[in-house]
Amino acid sequence: MRIAIVLGTRPEIIKMSPVIRACEKEDVEYFILHTGQHYSYTMDRVFFEQLELPEARYNLDVGSGTHGEQTGMILSGVERVLQKEQPDVVLVEGDTNTVLAGALAAAKLHIKVGHVEAGLRSYDRNMPEEINRVLTDHCSDYLFAPTETARQILLGEGVSEEMIFMTGNTIVDAVYQNLELATSRNNVLNDLHLEPGGYFLVTAHRQENVDVQERFGGIVKGLEFINREYRMPVIYPIHPRAQKMLNQFGLQPNGLKLIEPVDYLSFLQLESQAKLVLTDSGGVQEETCILKVPCVTLRDNTERPETVSVGSNLLAGTEQEKIMEQVQIMLKRENSWANPFGDGTTGERIVTILKEELV
Ligand code: UD1
Ligand code: UDP
Repeated sequence: MRIAIVLGTRPEIIKMSPVIRACEKEDVEYFILHTGQHYSYTMDRVFFEQLELPEARYNLDVGSGTHGEQTGMILSGVERVLQKEQPDVVLVEGDTNTVLAGALAAAKLHIKVGHVEAGLRSYDRNMPEEINRVLTDHCSDYLFAPTETARQILLGEGVSEEMIFMTGNTIVDAVYQNLELATSRNNVLNDLHLEPGGYFLVTAHRQENVDVQERFGGIVKGLEFINREYRMPVIYPIHPRAQKMLNQFGLQPNGLKLIEPVDYLSFLQLESQAKLVLTDSGGVQEETCILKVPCVTLRDNTERPETVSVGSNLLAGTEQEKIMEQVQIMLKRENSWANPFGDGTTGERIVTILKEELV
């Protein structure tokens, strides 16, 4: 069996790292095909270096562009590589343009597709990710659902039961594999002069938030309000898309500490010691749940409803008052919820399933 691992963005590198490690451990033949959707050092290379991942055999260097341009370039680039390499299965993870184009290229060549993190739905077609998820699930052969909720969604959409495997989410593996290292080695709190439990951590980068002036402006106001009310630092490692839009809209956040995106061990350390995390990221909603840190999501919906059900997360949208209200509620909660995303062996499970299926 030979696996092609297609990835292209920060969260895919992080969430595929346990699968890559499992391939190494099980001595399974694989290669990495990087699309180059993310390319800045802080969004890409830093994770390969820090997580000690092998070099990608191919990098398509597609870079940024409109959805059509980017997806189209990935589609034709992945097709070329797959025609040459003829792997038995292509693995994609998540819901980015890389994922949709990678899955589609493989499916059209009659190469099996495995979708890691299948069955997530926000039911919001304004999100490019929702379109990518639905389409990817429906051209995949192996659907690795992180939770029972995701499995039920796929069954409800008519996906046949034999194609769905409930494996948990590889993000748990990634957190477990790196947290100890993060807390033992990393000194990011000292560098930023922060006390454990004495600051808020923020990430916001979603197209439907930061590309819309009213929504991004609302988020910034909400964060400024929290900074004034709690008299605590608000740390925002800012995604390049958000930085670009902040400049374009001329927003000048007052009292917030904007920093470059940080490496994974630093981010885990910041996340695990934060008083509360505000985010519109998918992965961060999961990680805070696993780390038992309260989370307020700066969105109107989530494809991770398990976090809300177990009590680790509340949806706030992008209006200042609602953000404040949800922060107050979350800060009164006991952080005693159970992690619904698995036991940290998802990467190994996926590789074992593929070995069994592809003999
Ligand atoms: C993409 C994914 C999103 C995911 C996010 C993870 C899609 C449709 N979106 O969004 O689901 O949550 O990655 O972070 O696939 N840029 C840089 N350097 C980089 C990458 C991007 O400067 O390395 C800037 C460019 O100005 C670019 C913009 O960020 O135009 C957006 O990048 P893009 O990859 O299109 O989407 P993301 O917002 O990163
Ligand atoms: N992350 C990181 N450094 C940062 C911000 C986030 O390493 O400065 C990690 C975070 O721990 C999580 C992942 O990036 O694992 C989430 O990626 P992102 O929010 O870009 O994408 P999403 O999960 O929303 O698709």
